[in-house]
Amino acid sequence: MTTTEPYTTVSVDLPGRAYEILIGPGVLSEAGPRIAEMTRRPHVTIVTDAHVAALHLATLQEILAGQNLTSSALTLPPGEATKCWRELETTVEWLLSEKVERGDVVVALGGGVIGDLVGFAAAIMRRGVRYVQVPTSLLAQVDSSVGGKTAINSPAGKNLIGAFHQPSLVLADTDFLATLTQRDFLAGYGEVVKYGLLGDAAFFDWLEADATAMRDGDVAARVRAVARSCEMKAEIVMRDETEQGDRALLNLGHTFCHALEAATGYSDRLLHGEGVAIGCGLAFELSARMGLCSQEDPSRVQAHLKKMGMKSTLNDIPGELPPAATLLELMGQDKKVIDGKLRFILARGIGEAFITDDVQAADVIAVLENQLALG
Ligand code: GLY
Repeated sequence: MTTTEPYTTVSVDLPGRAYEILIGPGVLSEAGPRIAEMTRRPHVTIVTDAHVAALHLATLQEILAGQNLTSSALTLPPGEATKCWRELETTVEWLLSEKVERGDVVVALGGGVIGDLVGFAAAIMRRGVRYVQVPTSLLAQVDSSVGGKTAINSPAGKNLIGAFHQPSLVLADTDFLATLTQRDFLAGYGEVVKYGLLGDAAFFDWLEADATAMRDGDVAARVRAVARSCEMKAEIVMRDETEQGDRALLNLGHTFCHALEAATGYSDRLLHGEGVAIGCGLAFELSARMGLCSQEDPSRVQAHLKKMGMKSTLNDIPGELPPAATLLELMGQDKKVIDGKLRFILARGIGEAFITDDVQAADVIAVLENQLALG
């Protein structure tokens, strides 16, 4: 990570497809010069959603125009339902109608839904065109815009159709975070806290002390949190781009989260990042129950989430949840199941996560039931 005021840069040094993540307030202004350098044609195609377009599209287009780049935009409906075959077809056909070629650059302006969909469209268009991620949500800035996982959803499950296709540049403008609702911001924070819990105890210590300032708008704290998250993700992706091993660590909390998202019908009852935060707490509960970490660790995780004003346990999810056995069954449908065995990310302490399939169903059920019983 390097900081040349006002931006921080994290490099993802993958052979043949290295790229930079620029982080900071106002970093969107780099879109003009950076994209001008990258593209042969002085024309840029942007894909966004209606919500983000109203907030940020005109600014991006003005910045591009400042470098004599013309641009055209496709505006899709906001929301998870957009990550589907139909909108993928709309996007690819629109890019073809715009005569996008191999030498061109497509910009994904939006949160995780737009980033995943546009990344996938870029992966399959003419067998791969370059794309720039301009993530506008905290979740997208710290997770989905980095690392090249692209996807749409299938009726059979989330993110089941996709490709690994790395972006050519990521511009994470922390000013965008001021336009998020508190709920969306905190849901994205679920992924930030995950990084401390999985591999950096000192980062978690700092979050315990300073993340309320970050939540309340402290710009330096926001930059530090986004930059450290991206740096950790970049390190893991460089070790294991296609998730043959270590990359699965990024799924801390996700086995529980995916079951909870399925149980709540992928609805507004539980946002993905909220499920990740609750799932991290449960992963530490399970680790403590199995004697892997101290009993204090899950309490510390939950106390921090509570202090941030976040959902911290199953009982914070509105409405009824199915019984623990049904939740366990839903975990079995997670796409990370290998040979029918559930893979969990557990921890030997804060910042010391590891991957295992050596988990007894009875322990998972007990952890879920204990938390549900606390009401
Ligand atoms: N979001 C998890 C990963 O990118 O691997």
